Amino acid sequence: MSDTYRQVFENNKNWAAHHSASNPEFFEHLAKGQSPDFLFISCADSRVPVNNIMGLEPGEVFVHRNVANLVVNTDMNIHSVILYAIEHLKVKHVVVCGHYNCGGVAAAMGNQSLGLIDGWLREIRDVYRLHATELDAIDNESDRYNRLIELNVLEQCNNILKTEYFQKSHATAGGPSVHGWIFDISNGTLLDLDYDYKAQMEAMKAIYDING
Ligand code: CO
Repeated sequence: MSDTYRQVFENNKNWAAHHSASNPEFFEHLAKGQSPDFLFISCADSRVPVNNIMGLEPGEVFVHRNVANLVVNTDMNIHSVILYAIEHLKVKHVVVCGHYNCGGVAAAMGNQSLGLIDGWLREIRDVYRLHATELDAIDNESDRYNRLIELNVLEQCNNILKTEYFQKSHATAGGPSVHGWIFDISNGTLLDLDYDYKAQMEAMKAIYDING
């Protein structure tokens, strides 16, 4: 087995020992349950270390990851996660976090088939088509790429607002709030896209309201 493989277990021993030494009840407390304030939906990219970039400990952020941080209507996996986070964990914030240099978005801007993933990435082509006027007006390709990454995040936020369970939670419990963020891999910073989910709900209401 590779050295990297063995090293992981060494690292883990040290990590567990470090946490136990600084707080002997750390793991005992963790084992009792979780009450995170955040649901974080991000890309599967290895360069996005969720807890580290948020400065949060185990137990503080509920996480779902997939290629290009997509919230797809027919994906029972992600909707089970979001519904559980909202209705049972009662998170205060749902964050969709994309990242610059996203390979999934780059692939969706190209015309090479990648096999099975083509259908998944087509969601991003749909985002492009929805915002083609704005995107096509950007001459610089790298700027257009970054803007598509941002617009993809905002559209995935919209996809959360379209669900029956989110609308019900918003009407009965007033939350959670929905946020669109970008992680800039080149300098390690998180950018808030200032997604106004309440205004967006109003704007989409005529078409997407299914809460009677
Ligand atoms: Co990515």
